[in-house]
This record gives sequence, structure tokens and C-alpha cells, in this order.
Amino acid sequence: MSKRTVLTGITTTGTPHLGNYVGAIKPAIEASHSTDVQSCYFLADYHALIKCRDPEVVHRSTLEIAATWLALGLDTDRAMFYRQSDIPEITELTWLITCITAKGLMNRAHAYKAAVQENIDAGEDPDKAIDMGLFSYPVLMAADILMFNAHEVPVGRDQVQHLEMTRDIAQRFNHLFGEHFVLPEAVVDENVAVLPGQDGRKMSKSYNNTIPLWLPEKKLRKAIMKIVTNSLEPGEPKETKGSALFAIYSAFADTRQRDEMRRAFADGIAWGAAKQQCFELINAELSDARSVYEELMAEPARIEARLLEGAEKARGIAAPFIRELREAVGIRRLA
Ligand code: TRP
Repeated sequence: MSKRTVLTGITTTGTPHLGNYVGAIKPAIEASHSTDVQSCYFLADYHALIKCRDPEVVHRSTLEIAATWLALGLDTDRAMFYRQSDIPEITELTWLITCITAKGLMNRAHAYKAAVQENIDAGEDPDKAIDMGLFSYPVLMAADILMFNAHEVPVGRDQVQHLEMTRDIAQRFNHLFGEHFVLPEAVVDENVAVLPGQDGRKMSKSYNNTIPLWLPEKKLRKAIMKIVTNSLEPGEPKETKGSALFAIYSAFADTRQRDEMRRAFADGIAWGAAKQQCFELINAELSDARSVYEELMAEPARIEARLLEGAEKARGIAAPFIRELREAVGIRRLA
């Protein structure tokens, strides 16, 4: 493969919200239409098990996220779209690289360290409630990436360390067993919008301020009406800076629309009117895809079939590669 491979995983523990859409899903789907890269998108359902002990949530979230990406027009002929757990080679590779991953490297992982520190601060045993899934998480993530020899991995800031670890692991394997792995790079897009939630803080499940992506029209309108504003009256000029409503509007607006809204703020648009415009803009962008989403959700078998097709394609790469890697470490036929 001469094309560069770009790979992204989505952990299946939640319902997609507007922040996910603006910050990750939309740019990734746009990138999937590019002809000069091989894109890989996968549902990281094994990663979900690290955070979530509710089988129904994992299952439902996998369905919702798959339906979301398909409804928004992910080009699955061009891009690979698969579910991590359909690729047994990934778990196999996880073990091969676990065996050469320094425990000390994992000790330094931010998420693990934070969990230990929290225990220490609370006067508890440092290992309290920390399981091997959390500890080994970066190894599984490295296997996701190395399995497909991805060159680039678009991630948020919080994931950059995992990419450094992946490179370390790949380098060590290459050193021990020959040049098998590409050393991947994290790609952090500084321009990607961080969307505020209804309360003005970053839209995030942990703040409970999210607006789900696929709310039916009426509920979407209601959710937008709840975005915090201040008590300025109609006719009083309003600041765009620091306004969650303006930020959310802007994330969906083109330049002209954004400029017009900026002017409307200065001219003292009523909050209710600004919210209505915001709702209309977002709804217009999502309403066609929402119908497709609803159709897909009503027919999970169609989604399942698309994922299985994707898995077959992915395994077309993973299966021969894992054979090569097993051979390299000495797991071989005896005769
Ligand atoms: N850990 C990533 C997250 O929480 C999800 C993920 C799993 C991932 N495997 C990956 C991202 C491989 C990029 C590449 O966001």
C-alpha cells in the first residue's frame, strides 16, 4: 500500500452529541472522502469494556455510533469501517506486544497515574479499583494502530501520550524481531472547534451538559433554548465573546452567517430570536441525516452487515500481517 493510512478509533460508551459531531465526526467524514489516504475508522468496543460494566450501554452505544457514521455519509467503499471485536488479530497482536512492553512505560500513563493519585489523596490503597484493563489500555490502543500500520492518528490532546507509547512499543518490536511496524504519528488539529455545552463549559458527558446529536426536532429546539445566556434585554447589544450560544451557532455557520450573527448581537438581537436561528441552522444541517439515522436504527441488521463487510476488508490486511508477526516471534508450525 503506497497510500498513507490514517486511523481513528471511537470508544463505544456514549450517545453521540453535538460536540462529538463538530469536533471529531464531521472532520473525519470529510477526510474519508479524500482519495490520497487510506482511512480506517473503527468502533473500539474492547476499549469500552475498560470504562463500562453495563452490557446494554456498550451494545446500544455501538449501534448508535455505527448508525451515526453511516447516516452522516461515511464512504465505506473508500474507508475501512469495522468493529474492533470483529478483528481477532487485534487481540492477538495485543499479547505479542504486551510481552515486550515495559511495565515502567505503562506506569507513566496519565490516566493510570491520575487514578493512583486519586487513591493516594483519599488515603486509600494506591491500587484500589484499578483493573488491568485501565493499566494495559495503551497496549490495546497500540495494537489497534500497529495492526494496520497507520502513519497518522488524529487524536485529541489527551491521547498524544498513547501515540508516544505506541511508537516506543513499535520500535522495541522492530528492534527485537525486524522491521514490521511503521512508527505512527499523532495528528492534533489545533483548529478543531471545542464546542461549549448548554452551561458554557466544554460539551462533555462528564459535565452533563451535552446536546445529543439525534434529538428529534422539537427536543433539539428545546435543548437549544436552554443554552445559558444573560439577562440583557432585546435591543441591548450583546457580546459574542464568551457566549456559548454564539460559539455553538458559529460551529455550524459559514463565514457569512457568522458575520451576520455577530452583527445581530451588536444590534441587540433578543436571546430567544438568536436561539431560534441557532436551532434552524443546526436542524437544517442534520435533518436529512437524521432521517437516515432513524431508518438505520430501525434496521440494525443493515448496520451489522456493513460492519461485517468492513471486518472482512480489515481482516484481509490483519490476517496475513499477524501470520508474519507470529512467524517473526517464533510461533510457527513445527513441520
Ligand atoms: N482511546 C481513544 C479515545 O478514548 C479511542 C481509541 C481506541 C483510539 N483505539 C484507538 C483512537 C486507536 C485512535 C487510535 O478517544
